[in-house]
Amino acid sequence: MFCRKASNRANRVLLRPSQNRLDFAVSGRFPAGRSERRFAPQAVTAKVCLCKSLPNRWYVMSNASDPFFEPYDRDEIAYGSVPSSGLQAYLDQVPGLAGARALDLGAGAGRDTLALARAGYDVTSVDLSERGLQRVAERAEQAGLGTQVGTRVCDVREFEFEPQHYDAIVATTVLDHIPSEDAEKVWKRIVSALSPGGFLFIEVHTTEDPGSNQMPGLESDAPVSETAGQVINYFAPQRLVRFALQSNLRVLRYEERLEWDYTHGAEHLHGKAILLAVHDGHYPEWYGQPAAFPRREA
Ligand SMILES: C[S@@+](CC[C@H](N)C(=O)[O-])C[C@H]1O[C@@H](n2cnc3c(N)ncnc32)[C@H](O)[C@@H]1O
Repeated sequence: MFCRKASNRANRVLLRPSQNRLDFAVSGRFPAGRSERRFAPQAVTAKVCLCKSLPNRWYVMSNASDPFFEPYDRDEIAYGSVPSSGLQAYLDQVPGLAGARALDLGAGAGRDTLALARAGYDVTSVDLSERGLQRVAERAEQAGLGTQVGTRVCDVREFEFEPQHYDAIVATTVLDHIPSEDAEKVWKRIVSALSPGGFLFIEVHTTEDPGSNQMPGLESDAPVSETAGQVINYFAPQRLVRFALQSNLRVLRYEERLEWDYTHGAEHLHGKAILLAVHDGHYPEWYGQPAAFPRREA
């Protein structure tokens, strides 16, 4: 293992060769005037590229056709196994009815898919990463949930959404991986695919993220995610909640926040927006997260 320093920031770049592939990597600021750098042979054949959407930021590509291959191929799978906390809190309070259908868009290695399946949903997991979806299937089998989980290697922009078909639609950081105009189109399809009593859980990176090419993230010195190069559509403040309000959804929870991430690569900061919403006029038994005034135990 060896370390290098990014030239104009104090970010430490930690690369480790393992079975001829990248073990992990971090992204950071790129030296002025440079657009590409190859690391020494012992640091594998990874190519360090300038990210088009993030001038002066670089990232490591370990597999050109699936940038998430390596994070999902690790023994310690990227993003871990703990589901998105807002999603789990909702599922704990409002369980899925028998035969309920869920869609996990940009499912990755399936931490949210498994939470939905455990809550009783039949889940379709959609992702571009074949390796990620293999891990979803493996994990579902191991958890005895194999019959409830189906996987589809597909771009969310190409996915055929059936109208009013899903009782839960989860999209944890995928609308920010596609261009803004596409995200708006996919959002409309998501809303039309939601059943009358269904819920949406959506998470995106915001401009507060230190990987953002806009303020205030642009000026942040905080460490950036190893996969920041894949985020090309950082959401401005209030943008996600505006999507919901313009689509006649009832917002049960909306939050913009900073959070530290220890689930993959070197620890790094994120700016995130989280939305939990249902159709206007639908009233599930939801007491908030954490439940603000829960009923006392008898
Ligand atoms: C940051 S990861 C999040 C994974 C998962 N939702 C989680 O929270 O653990 C983003 C995922 O979106 C997937 N992705 C990116 N663009 C996509 C697209 N256009 N269609 C489908 N999946 C996409 C990536 O392959 C990756 O697995």
